[in-house]
Amino acid sequence: MLIKHSGDIPSSEITPEAIYNSRRDFMRGAMSVAALGVGSFAAPGLMAAPTNIGDIEVKGPDWLKQQIASANANKEKVTEALTPYEHITGYNNFYEYGYDKTDPAAKAHVLKPHPWTVEIAGEIARPGTFALEDLLKGITLEERVYRLRCVEAWSMVVPWVGFSLADLIKRVEPTSKAKYVAFTTLERPSEMPGQKSSFSTIDWPYREGLRMDEAMHPLTILAVGLYGKVLPNQNGAPLRLVVPWKYGFKYIKSIVKIEFTEKQPKTTWSMIAPDEYGFYANVNPQVSHPRWSQAEERRLPSGLLRPNIVPTQLFNGYAEQVAHLYKDMDLRKFY
Ligand code: MTE
Repeated sequence: MLIKHSGDIPSSEITPEAIYNSRRDFMRGAMSVAALGVGSFAAPGLMAAPTNIGDIEVKGPDWLKQQIASANANKEKVTEALTPYEHITGYNNFYEYGYDKTDPAAKAHVLKPHPWTVEIAGEIARPGTFALEDLLKGITLEERVYRLRCVEAWSMVVPWVGFSLADLIKRVEPTSKAKYVAFTTLERPSEMPGQKSSFSTIDWPYREGLRMDEAMHPLTILAVGLYGKVLPNQNGAPLRLVVPWKYGFKYIKSIVKIEFTEKQPKTTWSMIAPDEYGFYANVNPQVSHPRWSQAEERRLPSGLLRPNIVPTQLFNGYAEQVAHLYKDMDLRKFY
């Protein structure tokens, strides 16, 4: 995974937490983020004037906008300030659009996330290919504010809108042979230029996987929105995985296939560098990456003058909810 350490994003003020206390406020656009500074590594989109969330229009079908607008409030309590919208949508990893953090925001507009279908296959009683709209029928979306910790040692706090993956899994009735869930991203080089690149080390499509108990965990969601808006393409529209106690590379974007398997599925980064990126990828400050420490992280917004370094927490701060899943496992071996 490519690492860029210094000052990728200019420093800026963290929006005071109080401003975010009311979800309805930011959906109505009462919130505006602080002015952004200018730095030598600044992404063009990040140098724009302060954004009023209410003014942002992300394209998407009306049915999805309405479902997102009526999402239930967040259940998880995160006391840290949310990362401003510009940073969440302007500093991305989405190698289908290139290796720079600014490539996805600049290029992902060519993706057509609607209409969209998801194939659900493997060890289940009810396989099929479902239109996104049908998958979301009868599902009440929820807002979930979670920390996101990238393996590259930067982090954000993101107000996702999504639904529990467990709700979807129960509907397709897994058989007793379903031990893992494998996820696959769209492979469409005409809309994903990185998939055409001869420099790419990735064997497309991007793949990820979870153990069944991880997939069924109440913290695990499939996101369709953020900040009360339709998920932007660069963040994995129209459907992406969010597993808050794991490193960000597990959060596979633009999912087109979900397959239930008996054997542990292959995953993109563990195929490329198995010594550096494991299947589990649980956030763990005590287990260093072979090339850097995982003890701390740069919380965005972060810049040269104000790097905003915070200590990394075991399981990204969700140990109370998830540590039992790994109680008999050596976390150094199963990284
Ligand atoms: N999904 C796909 N299909 N392709 C990718 O390159 N990058 C992963 C993950 N999901 C990636 C992906 C990595 S490395 C991270 S850290 C997160 O997406 C970043 O999500 P964000 O850009 O919304 O912050």
